[in-house]
Amino acid sequence: MEHLLHFDELDSTNSYLKKTQENLPHGTVVTSARQTAGRGRYSRIWESERGGLYFSVLLKPTKTDFLPNLTQLMSVCVCRTLESFGLLVQIKWPNDVLVNGQKICGILSEAVSREGRIQAVVLGVGLNVGQSNLASISQPAVSLRELGIQAETNVLLKKILDFFWRDYPVLLEKGFPFIASAYKERFGALGKEVTVQNGNETLFGMVEDLSPRGALLLRTGQHLQELFTGDLMV
Ligand code: BTN
Repeated sequence: MEHLLHFDELDSTNSYLKKTQENLPHGTVVTSARQTAGRGRYSRIWESERGGLYFSVLLKPTKTDFLPNLTQLMSVCVCRTLESFGLLVQIKWPNDVLVNGQKICGILSEAVSREGRIQAVVLGVGLNVGQSNLASISQPAVSLRELGIQAETNVLLKKILDFFWRDYPVLLEKGFPFIASAYKERFGALGKEVTVQNGNETLFGMVEDLSPRGALLLRTGQHLQELFTGDLMV
């Protein structure tokens, strides 16, 4: 189906697709057995030793209204895949996937624009599969292996992509409401007191809901704030 490129080593699968996207078709998927400069959100390093699943999907969407929701769709697809191995998973808004409060997957979406128009979106996924040295990472993290699950990275990739391509066209048309119930079922912070780091601002409040655009609705005193980005701490 999609155009699949596999490397033994890359700096970053996201960086590779951003550099080469002009010559590649929509739907290209790039995987790498390891990354030497894997990147996370907010310019963080994404540790990318052998054993993990590192891939990026190149999208050339026909509609751009709901692009922020693509990462949320991808987090639901990763959840569905992990659930097929019997795991209980949660989404940490906007798109981290956690097991027992420990991060197992992160998603980084980057747009490539020219003259103010979005040419392409690169959606990168890092899933902890066979690693056993995640204690060195600054936040609590876990791999499938540490959870006692043996899974092949190519099997995981196929399952995630099957879920993703099935729902992608509908998401582009309908936006977050299409995945709202699937997302909210797995959204651990609903109704909880949280801290959100939003740029230089630190906000405290109660998570009241997600908005129809997939943004966090945070009750801070009298105000209900709709947050589109940020780092959530429960
Ligand atoms: C995060 O949780 O901060 C997002 C992590 C995203 C990591 C993946 S691994 C594949 C792709 N290539 C990168 O350099 N980053 C993403």
